[in-house]
This record gives sequence, structure tokens and C-alpha cells, in this order.
Amino acid sequence: MKLAFMTSAKRAVQRAVAGNDDSYMSGGQIVGTIGARVRDWVRGVVRNASCGRGIAGRSPVNVHFGCGPHDDPRFVNVDKRALPHVHIVSGSFRLDRFFDRGSIDMIYASHVVEHFSFGKTHELLDHWRSMLKPGGIVRLSVPDFDKLVATYEATGRSVEAIQGYLLGGQDYPGNFHYAIFTRESLGLQLTKAGFMDIRAWSPEAISPRWPEDQSRDAAISLNLEARRPVQA
Ligand SMILES: C[S@@+](CC[C@H](N)C(=O)[O-])C[C@H]1O[C@@H](n2cnc3c(N)ncnc32)[C@H](O)[C@@H]1O
Repeated sequence: MKLAFMTSAKRAVQRAVAGNDDSYMSGGQIVGTIGARVRDWVRGVVRNASCGRGIAGRSPVNVHFGCGPHDDPRFVNVDKRALPHVHIVSGSFRLDRFFDRGSIDMIYASHVVEHFSFGKTHELLDHWRSMLKPGGIVRLSVPDFDKLVATYEATGRSVEAIQGYLLGGQDYPGNFHYAIFTRESLGLQLTKAGFMDIRAWSPEAISPRWPEDQSRDAAISLNLEARRPVQA
């Protein structure tokens, strides 16, 4: 009885700190993970308190949401991980704590929208539209479910070939996927959120200096961009 209570208490702590409870973590690992979380939180608070340095005076205002390791000086970097080049450390898709509504020229998000629950996609896109200037652009890259299905079939139904793209790498807290998209479903979501001029984009066509990120993986990525109407 006591053992069962201890096990379920430990699982609850593990779920809270690591986002899962299905793999073994020693007491030391749990303490280490909590320590890393606290360290990241403190770094985030400090970074966000000084993030004006990364944002002030920028024109155009381009936001790289979920930038991960990619540091392109043309962007304000936003990520939930306090990596050294991240200007704003946040795990929320909301940007109105840091920017005025209608003040952003472009929001770029590569392989991160699927890290939010599918029930939140509309709220996320609707919010991002409201943060863009009239005529501003949201540029997205997400795993393309149709391409993953094709890869699955082409590889003799290999789960290993697609599970990381479908479910996330699951190699650090938060690297889990909660939504799937096709050209049709994402296009519909963009339309419902009030975007127009929905079209495919490719990094090569936009700039030779575009970040070397997952948007370049044409075999699995769905790259769509759209515009906030000038008259909203
Ligand atoms: C799969 S990586 C993609 C990195 C890069 N954009 C690329 O395409 O190569 C997902 C990134 O989004 C970040 N991320 C995941 N969930 C997030 C959230 N809720 N808020 C902010 N960033 C998040 C992760 O920390 C990670 O850097």
C-alpha cells in the first residue's frame, strides 16, 4: 500500500517535471530535472526582463517562434528553451506580453505548431494573425501527414521511418507532438483564422540564407504561408 503510494507519487512528480511517466527515472534524475527546470526558469525571467535589447528599434519586426538552435540575426528568437541566442523564453504561443498587437511583420514557425494541442491550433493562428501588421505574413512549416503516410508505405510500413516526425523526437521535455496537418487541414485552419493568400513556400526560393532548419526537409515538411488581410 505504502509502496503503491510512493510509486504513484513519484510518477506524478515525474509527469510534472518530464512530461511523461512511462520511463524509469531515478530519484537523482528527478532532482536533476527539477534543477534544470528551475535554472531554465530563472534564465527565462532574466532574459525576458532584458529582451527589449533584442526587440527595440527593429524594422521590420520578424519573429522566429520555436527557433531552436537557429540564430538568424533578422529575427527576434522565441523558444521555450533558454538557449543563448533566444531573446524571449516562453512556452506560450501568445506574443502580446512582448509585442503590441498589429506590430509584427512576419511570424516564422518551423516544426513547432504541432507541439501545441490540435484543439489550440485555431486560437494560436487567430492570435498570431492579430499580432501581425495588416498585410503581415505567417510562414509555417509542419510535418506533412500525407508525406509521412507516403513514406510509411514506401518504406515497407516502417514505423521507425516516421515516428519521430509524427510524435516528436521525445528527447527533451516538450519535444512531443500533439497535432497533425495536411495541406488541406492547415489551409482550412488558416482560412478560418482569417488569413488570405495561402500558398506554398520553399526556403530556397525565399533566400539562400534562410535558416538550415527542418523547413528544408522537403520529404516530410508542409511549408505554407499566408497573409493577414490589409482590411481586417
Ligand atoms: C522540432 S524543434 C524545431 C526547431 C527549428 N524551428 C527547426 O525547424 O529546425 C521545436 C522547437 O520548438 C520549441 N518549442 C516546443 N514547444 C514550444 C512551446 N510550447 N513554446 C515555444 N517553443 C517551443 C522547442 O524548444 C524546439 O526548439
